[in-house]
Amino acid sequence: MRVFLFSCLFTICWNNMLAKGLFEHGVASGDPYSDSVILWTRVTPVTPGEIQVKWEIAADNSFSEILGNGQTATNEGRDYTVKVEADSLVPGTNYYYRFSLEDGKILSPIGRTKTLPSGAIEKVRFALFSCANLTANYFNPYGKAAEVGEVEAYDAIIHVGDYIYEYGRGGYTAAEDMINRVGFEPDRECVSLNDYRLRYAQYHREPSLKRLRASAPLIAIWDDHETANDSWATGAQNHSTDGSEGNWSERVTQALQAYYEWLPIREPENGNRRNAYRSFQFGDLVSLYMLETRLSAREEQLSLAPSEAQVNARILEILANREITQQYAELYSIPLPSNTPDSAEIRNFSNALALVIPNEMIINTLQEAYSGDRNLLGEEQLSWLINGLTNSSSKWQVLGQQVLMGNMTLPGELLLELASGNASQTTIGKYYTPALKVANGLSLTPEEQSIFDGANPLPYNLDAWDGYGKERETILQAAISLEKQMVVLAGDTHNAWTNLLKTMNPQNLGIPAAIEFATSGVSAPGIEKYFPGQEEILRVLFESYSPRLRYAD
Ligand SMILES: [Fe+2]
Repeated sequence: MRVFLFSCLFTICWNNMLAKGLFEHGVASGDPYSDSVILWTRVTPVTPGEIQVKWEIAADNSFSEILGNGQTATNEGRDYTVKVEADSLVPGTNYYYRFSLEDGKILSPIGRTKTLPSGAIEKVRFALFSCANLTANYFNPYGKAAEVGEVEAYDAIIHVGDYIYEYGRGGYTAAEDMINRVGFEPDRECVSLNDYRLRYAQYHREPSLKRLRASAPLIAIWDDHETANDSWATGAQNHSTDGSEGNWSERVTQALQAYYEWLPIREPENGNRRNAYRSFQFGDLVSLYMLETRLSAREEQLSLAPSEAQVNARILEILANREITQQYAELYSIPLPSNTPDSAEIRNFSNALALVIPNEMIINTLQEAYSGDRNLLGEEQLSWLINGLTNSSSKWQVLGQQVLMGNMTLPGELLLELASGNASQTTIGKYYTPALKVANGLSLTPEEQSIFDGANPLPYNLDAWDGYGKERETILQAAISLEKQMVVLAGDTHNAWTNLLKTMNPQNLGIPAAIEFATSGVSAPGIEKYFPGQEEILRVLFESYSPRLRYAD
């Protein structure tokens, strides 16, 4: 009897240890519908080969009444991740689920999920996240949200991207405060399928992330770092152009394969994994549109400040055409040089042009950014969204997406100094003094007034919607003309912002079209990391020179 008891206890302990080891990345659920949800786990293989995994879903966490179950196989072809759809569920209901191996002998942790509500509802609860950088800081926001959600469940956890960061050591030094605790897995920049898989595996060993994923359904869309920094459809700032990091399209395919393996989300029906835009209906209250702004159609980002090489190229272009040279000489009252190459006249003319061409190029870029025919969502996704807005009778239209939609500007002079990495305290003070007075309702001296009025605010981030103004206009105009109440969710910047979104169309200039709530990052460093002790100055500058910004942290 004693031997039997000992052997039972040993078996229970051994199975618990095995469960912890074999389900070390936890469980998750995601992309809920009113009658189904995706359930996820990963099995850590002891030996390579196919593994049979069972799953169960129940109304209570003791699994006294199993409402659905099944069996599926996983293998190294999908990195031993498991994704199943539990269907025939009831709307707006909490469920519990778990996975098991070896005929139920080894059980995974238990997860809780919830189907989308249907019909008339009064409220929904969302948790919004972006920018989780494991080497930068602890994932405490995930853990805290899990704690809150365990008391009153979220209807969904919305993640708008930068769920992982692709960098290796030295790639993003401002985000390396934790490398002694966690290190980089793999110890290099992620480029291949195996690299991205290892990075997801590392992130998913973090207890707070596992706890959050097990607490409520996740609705996620990537931003740039799930592939590479500042990505667009055909390239990225952090993807080499010399071939040393391979072909961009192949890198995207591999990065997205790992993403779909590790995130509990549905595959696009048309089979094109880049087109991850999709919508969710929360009763009669919220239509949630998750937008894809990186890999479906985005055109390369514009750069506001032209480089010296770009300015010189433009000057050579002007000099190559005699008629245009004459036009510039007249426009800026510069003596027209003779046609002699390498002459002092040409040099003087070029030097004079070098003072005015950068401004001219900035104005052109600005026009292109705000009103040029530039793709961010692309035609197909944009018409899908407008159709959705048109046909939705929900009280709120919510866009879950990555980059700031608000028009975020700073004084041009200061912005260009910031862009070159040489913002002087004199310039900061010049614009801060009148801004602070205005913020406190104090009157300005005539000189301060002219600085404030002549600040020439320019958009600070053309990777965001400010660089793709035409599509933004289409969406905001639609919200106004369709009389929809719209909320835009965003992330990306690692700071928190609230923006009143207004169209640039003079007809509707004063009408708020939507409100934007942008979340700070889970752990990636915000502007304060780069300007320690100057947070308040920056907040005042942004709030004063971005007239539609209502809150900054
Ligand atoms: Fe980020």
